[in-house]
Amino acid sequence: MERILTLKGLNNALRKKPNAKKAIVVDSNTYNYCLSVLLSKVDALHEAMILEIGVGEKNKTIDTYMSIVKELAKEGFDRHSQLVALGGGVVTDIVGFVGSSYKRGIDTYMIPTTTLAMVDASIGGKNALNIGETKNQIGFVRFPKIVCIDTSFLETLPARQKQNGAVEMMKTALIADRALFYEMIEHSPVEIGENESFIRQCMKIKRDIVRLDPFDLSMRQKLNFGHTIGHAIESISIKQGIDMLHGEAVAIGMLYAIELSKDMPVDQKNIVKKYITEHFDTALDKYDMNELTNYMNADKKNSCGKYNFVLLKEIGESIYGQEVSKEQLKRILNFKNQEV
Ligand code: GLY
Repeated sequence: MERILTLKGLNNALRKKPNAKKAIVVDSNTYNYCLSVLLSKVDALHEAMILEIGVGEKNKTIDTYMSIVKELAKEGFDRHSQLVALGGGVVTDIVGFVGSSYKRGIDTYMIPTTTLAMVDASIGGKNALNIGETKNQIGFVRFPKIVCIDTSFLETLPARQKQNGAVEMMKTALIADRALFYEMIEHSPVEIGENESFIRQCMKIKRDIVRLDPFDLSMRQKLNFGHTIGHAIESISIKQGIDMLHGEAVAIGMLYAIELSKDMPVDQKNIVKKYITEHFDTALDKYDMNELTNYMNADKKNSCGKYNFVLLKEIGESIYGQEVSKEQLKRILNFKNQEV
């Protein structure tokens, strides 16, 4: 698994290979707000090549990937080279993908600058690219060497991005830690998304799960709570040009996964649903149900015409591999005048 270090620890590790070629992948946000901070703290990266990609999920493509590997090849990067991601989940996913494939694998170093990337995208080794609007269709599980957590990067993060990460944090608590969830909902999503203690607790929960099931064959699937519907909504949003972040889609997905969680006590359901509906836009009327199920049918986790859900037994306890039929889904989503 990856090691979790400070920027100072990263500097020491990179200094051990002074002759390795180094590149830092940024997007325009991290180029403007984070790169100078990184370079002021990590002198081992002073000579690194800087590769800038576009901001946002629509750039998590084969084309972006090709532009990076062509540049690495042009500059003579070999299999001992080192690739650093400075950014959110799109940057860490692309760097992970490049690191898994270029020269059959080079070392990667993740410096997540968003809450979401700190608690989820940068850790656990999963990386992916989208095909068209469909999320995460090709990818690898390959661990970065080091993930650096420096919450000072969150100081320049917009409130909406903190909320975005807070959803993955709430998800983590909902599947595994009841006390943490109750503690979190004493706060607004923005406060959750900038709280270092909550961030570190969520990272630990995720790492404990990944350690037991790195290749997503069993309990790691719990981390997909809220994502079965959430990914489909996110894909439709990319297609329709609706401005929606991953966490905002997962918040909707969690709401409906809770509806489907038939064993969960109603009072607990109501607590979670109240918090989500008070803080996130969960209206579904702008989505076409057929589109939604088309995207859900493309989900890697579904089989035999049934959807594969993670459901909650109670707050802090989840079960993976729960089959849900199209009819059940239709009932829960309650779409008017639309066929599944
Ligand atoms: N984001 C889910 C996982 O890493 O398994």
